[in-house]
Amino acid sequence: MAGPNPYGALYASEPKGPGDARPTALRVLEDNNALGAWQGRVVLVTGGTSGIGTTTAQALHATGADVYFTARDMTKGEQTAETIRKQSPGKGKIEPILMNMESLESVKQAARSLLSLTGNKLNVLINNAGKCQVPMQLLRQQTATDQR
Ligand SMILES: NC(=O)c1ccc[n+]([C@@H]2O[C@H](COP(=O)([O-])OP(=O)(O)OC[C@H]3O[C@@H](n4cnc5c(N)ncnc54)[C@H](OP(=O)(O)O)[C@@H]3O)[C@@H](O)[C@H]2O)c1
Repeated sequence: MAGPNPYGALYASEPKGPGDARPTALRVLEDNNALGAWQGRVVLVTGGTSGIGTTTAQALHATGADVYFTARDMTKGEQTAETIRKQSPGKGKIEPILMNMESLESVKQAARSLLSLTGNKLNVLINNAGKCQVPMQLLRQQTATDQR
């Protein structure tokens, strides 16, 4: 595609809601011939249970990659995975992994789970989970090992 931002002109007007001229993630993948192009690759998206994380996981699944995403509520995680599975043209895996970033041990366990599920493979990591404009929070749990 030509130019540093081929969609720049589409952002010149005010948003008109769903269906306006701005490209969806799927459109960007189509324009870059990326649909089905990442079969066999492993992707992890943190915070895949809502917002940008869900959209990112869904788009990357359409590339054919095996997509894992973190969830702090596995019921919500399974529901998200099922929704993506039903809608996505991708044939790769889409699976939630339990992780709550308030606990460093949970983060480490999530990393172990991912590597166990993928045979130590990870090609793309999207560090998405979190909130913006909230007061700084401290970890609720840290093991003695973490503090060394
Ligand atoms: N939206 C924006 O305009 C905007 C602008 C600038 C930056 N960002 C950044 O983009 C990222 C996603 O934003 P978003 O609007 O899509 O947010 P969102 O809809 O609130 O989704 C955040 C995701 O992170 C997860 N999460 C939140 N706290 C967590 C924790 N302690 N441990 C593990 N997972 C946690 C949420 O899980 P649950 O589903 O369980 O809540 C959810 O999956 C954030 O890092 C945000 O700071 C967003």
